[in-house]
Amino acid sequence: MTTHPPSLAIENIVILAAGKGTRMFSRHPKVLHPLAGQPLLAHVIGAARALRPRRIIVVHGHGGDAVAAAFPAADLHWVRQEPQQGTGHAMLTALPALTKQGVTLILYGDVPLIACDTLRPLARHAQEGGLALLTAHLTDPAGYGRIVRDTGGGVQSIIEEKDATPEQRQIHEINTGFMALPTRHLADWLPRLDTRNTQGEYYLTDIVPLAAAQRIAITTHHPQREWEIHGVNNKQQLAELERVFQRESARELLAQGVTLADPARIDIRGRLTCAQDVSIDVNCIFEGEVALGENVTIGAHCVIRNATIGKDTVIEAFSLIEQAMVGDSCRIGPFARLRPGARLAATVHVGNFVEIKNSNIGDNSKINHLSYIGDSDLGKNINVGAGSITCNYDGANKHRTTIEDNVFIGSDTQLVAPVTVKKGATVGAGSTITRDVPADGLTLSRSKQVSVPSWRRPVKKSQ
Ligand code: UD1
Ligand code: CA
Repeated sequence: MTTHPPSLAIENIVILAAGKGTRMFSRHPKVLHPLAGQPLLAHVIGAARALRPRRIIVVHGHGGDAVAAAFPAADLHWVRQEPQQGTGHAMLTALPALTKQGVTLILYGDVPLIACDTLRPLARHAQEGGLALLTAHLTDPAGYGRIVRDTGGGVQSIIEEKDATPEQRQIHEINTGFMALPTRHLADWLPRLDTRNTQGEYYLTDIVPLAAAQRIAITTHHPQREWEIHGVNNKQQLAELERVFQRESARELLAQGVTLADPARIDIRGRLTCAQDVSIDVNCIFEGEVALGENVTIGAHCVIRNATIGKDTVIEAFSLIEQAMVGDSCRIGPFARLRPGARLAATVHVGNFVEIKNSNIGDNSKINHLSYIGDSDLGKNINVGAGSITCNYDGANKHRTTIEDNVFIGSDTQLVAPVTVKKGATVGAGSTITRDVPADGLTLSRSKQVSVPSWRRPVKKSQ
């Protein structure tokens, strides 16, 4: 029999995100820089939501309203901290927005990869009345606050590097900044902080000696993986965390049985779901929501964004697919472009340098070379010859082209919309079709071919 720990109830999660981010050298607030296609802060908000707190409070400041504007969700409470006088000041500013009871958990907006499993034990300890700190033992602790313990091993204080003695700087256990505690203690301790330190800031970490003096149980917890606590202060760290994120995404796909030609060369910026026996070649990028059916093969260098691909379909190299639905057993590419609203049924072939936009393509139809199909409805068993295009735009409005089942469109045909090609028709190569084409039979618009046997090629004049 398993015993369940008491259910976890977190009252407040505060996300500190008011910092400047000077070293990003950017006009944009640091927490809005994307990691895996989403703002840093979105990752932290995602972790916060997964813990199901009663309230999420985001402390922002630098960047005006840009940060709040980027997250219009109703479940977020925004607190403006201006000027930014340290982490203790940030929490003091947030205090009126917190519910008074229960547990408060503190996260950082620029530490995006923190995992819920790492945070739960902190909240659990706080639920029992204690102060829980997330700490780590680092080979290079430079820059972090150090955990100072008494002779009995109990946590005494946290000393910022700038305030630390040479001996304290030798301590390798660092403060990650994440902590959880009963909210009522925050209300008691925060107003008692001062700025008597080398940086002249209100340090949140100065609540530790206050807790120790009150004999509050202080526990330390550690992340399962060191990268969870890594923050982003510059583009180098951002790029490193992006790689961590992508490596982890690839690892999860491999664990599910997806074949990756090289787990170091895949980028997932959103959610990729794969059925059984999916195989992905190198340098593919998946954005937004992408679903790949059973036995799908993705060739090298494809970009697939908000799309579903049916089972047994092969996407050949260098294809770009966006907001499209591809049915089962299709063959797409190489060098195909499916734009928003492309809906392909089963066993459709779309070949090289073919662009399809806002069009339905029926079962078993083939558009294999150098074509543009826009705003069109194509039936089944159609063959569109090389170089054929729909002229869907008259310079002011878009019009639809309809091609019914079993039609054969000869190469280099222009279909000037609005126009319909009826069932079973054959359109001769090189035609410009401006009127509806009747069913069956051959329709063509083409000037007569002439030969002039007496014609002589010009010759170059001698000088
Ligand atoms: C803080 C900790 C330090 C810890 C380190 C981990 C304090 C005093 N020190 O350092 O022990 O090792 O984090 O990275 O808490 N922020 C605000 N308003 C402010 C200041 C900061 O919202 O006025 C936010 C920042 O946006 C950031 C987080 O708080 O998300 C941490 O701030 P930062 O300046 O990076 O940390 P330090 O104070 O240097
Ligand atoms: Ca920092």
